[in-house]
Amino acid sequence: MTAFVELKGKVAAILWRWSLTKGLRNRTRRFGSPGEESQWATMRVLETERLLLREFCQADLNDLVTWEGPSGEEFTEAQARRFLNFCFAEYFKLGVGRWGMLLKSTGGVVGNCGFCYINFKQKIGEVAYYIAPKYRGRGLAAEALGALIQFGFADIGLARIQARCGPDNTSSERVMQKAGMIFERMVLSREASKSGSRTDKMYAVVSCDFKTYSKTGIPPGA
Ligand SMILES: CC(C)(COP(=O)(O)OP(=O)(O)OC[C@H]1O[C@@H](n2cnc3c(N)ncnc32)[C@H](O)[C@@H]1OP(=O)(O)O)[C@@H](O)C(=O)NCCC(=O)NCCS
Repeated sequence: MTAFVELKGKVAAILWRWSLTKGLRNRTRRFGSPGEESQWATMRVLETERLLLREFCQADLNDLVTWEGPSGEEFTEAQARRFLNFCFAEYFKLGVGRWGMLLKSTGGVVGNCGFCYINFKQKIGEVAYYIAPKYRGRGLAAEALGALIQFGFADIGLARIQARCGPDNTSSERVMQKAGMIFERMVLSREASKSGSRTDKMYAVVSCDFKTYSKTGIPPGA
């Protein structure tokens, strides 16, 4: 079964790359899982002060192999290829997927972010983000998250954007706070955290609060 799923992913990734070379890809695509309620949106380039967020491409492999995995282990070429194929498959199947984060000063890919869940009916989206260890602690994740939230409200038309982290993931929690999100509740996690906890902290922001926060820097509820 796992082999079949991997094969499907690889086929989708090949089709994605082929559609690029043939110029067949429509920039405005169906946004959402096949069979579910969906809408059209463009996964455009997003820009912040220090970052350029764009779709991944094959040439990013060289940067990806310099990343480290979550526990500090080396990110092997095979893992990097699998990650890229996963991204290409997402673009092909869903029309949108992970943005690669490029540091403007070097052009290097230092992380990724994107929507891991969207409910169009309820106008709710959930975001996730990752920064390679070498580049952490510089405020890059918060910068990228701000741009992603802005995209979710303005381009997709979401009313609420949420994100979650393990109870011991202090830096991630701080990233959500810096992007204007507020703690909402504890939720059951999808997998156990490093400390073995089975709960996550759920943070969220609604469109009108984000607008105010962007203008004034005053967090919701303050
Ligand atoms: C979470 C993650 C994205 C943060 O990336 P980053 O670029 O270092 O984040 P930022 O620099 O924007 O912000 C980190 C904040 O956490 C704070 N922080 C870090 N470790 C901390 C700790 N142990 N205690 C308190 N604050 C801490 C930093 O001081 C900083 O806040 P500040 O700017 O107010 O000083 C990165 O660690 C990562 O990729 N982790 C693995 C993936 C993950 O956990 N993703 C989140 C779940 S979707």
